[in-house]
Amino acid sequence: MKLHKVTSQSIKEAALIIQNGGLVAFPTETVYGLGADALNPLAVARVFEVKERPNFDPLIVHISSLADIERLCLKIDKMARTLMKHFWPGPLTLVLPKSSLVPDIVTAGLPTVAVRMPSHPVASELIKAAGTPVAAPSANLFSRLSPTTAKHVKEQLGDKIDLILDGGRSPIGVESTVILLASGKAHLLRPGGLSLEDIENVIGAVKIQIPKSLSPLSPGQLPRHYSPRTPIRFLPPGKIEFEKGKKVGLLAFTPLKAKMPCEVVEILSPEGDIVEAAANLFPCLHRLDKAGLDIIYAESVPKIGLGRAIMDRLYKAVGDSRSE
Ligand code: TXA
Ligand code: MG
Repeated sequence: MKLHKVTSQSIKEAALIIQNGGLVAFPTETVYGLGADALNPLAVARVFEVKERPNFDPLIVHISSLADIERLCLKIDKMARTLMKHFWPGPLTLVLPKSSLVPDIVTAGLPTVAVRMPSHPVASELIKAAGTPVAAPSANLFSRLSPTTAKHVKEQLGDKIDLILDGGRSPIGVESTVILLASGKAHLLRPGGLSLEDIENVIGAVKIQIPKSLSPLSPGQLPRHYSPRTPIRFLPPGKIEFEKGKKVGLLAFTPLKAKMPCEVVEILSPEGDIVEAAANLFPCLHRLDKAGLDIIYAESVPKIGLGRAIMDRLYKAVGDSRSE
């Protein structure tokens, strides 16, 4: 495995690897992705293998120009076009009926494909240089913490992939918001880096409950995901008694008002800013997971703006099947 700082040369090298069926981890504005040529089923199969990801869980296809969407998707309705116009490039993934160009392995056999146009300049340049849409899940092992730095990727996937492009820290820090468009309606499949409020300001109410007929098996339905290896629970309300002799870590939203008997405290946002908290979520969890703790307690955050995505990731981390 090679790890290169981003330069025009390393982007060219990465693009060549993708063209030749290899795997490249690259920065996006949300988290780091593990990219492969989306039109090469063998390359995509390697992504599933390396991530130890079950093959019923479909991948997002990343594009760099609006022209690509016409090749990948059918039935791009008015609502889809409005969303693209407002929020692309950016942290929004749209699920639309797929064209025959998209290999079945990418969509896990579903008739739909998830597409996103990232705004991170490195992601965008890499896709352009590769000259092909890039299938990329988050560059972590299945069900584990998502990576927001090249170092996080190296720790989980280092020896199994061809190249990591180090473009610094992913600024948003939580994955894209996934919206399914069906029968002229929008359904939220995963809260993420674009807030529901921003989306609803443009297209009106988005459905939160997904009808069974439209609901494929996806990580949203798996009870445990985005998890540290250390056991993690929500901080119960009121005064708590920590078990004697246990090393406890705390993931707090804002600085603590009262002292708590913890080994390590990580603060998501000193000022209580929900955008900053989202950017710090995975880096804080990675640090807590490496601190040799017996248990991590996580404080809830307000479910407004990106707070919805933070709470979704925390529910999945503790194995709570709630998504709302
Ligand atoms: O921000 C992001 O979205 C990052 C960066 C790398 O772009 N990618 C990412 O990919 O989070 P991944 O594979 O970790 O999550 C993809 C999500 C999963 O929840 C998957 O089930 C859903 O998108 N998905 C993909 N294709 C779908 C489809 N056809 N129908 C429904 N859900 C789909
Ligand atoms: Mg993921």
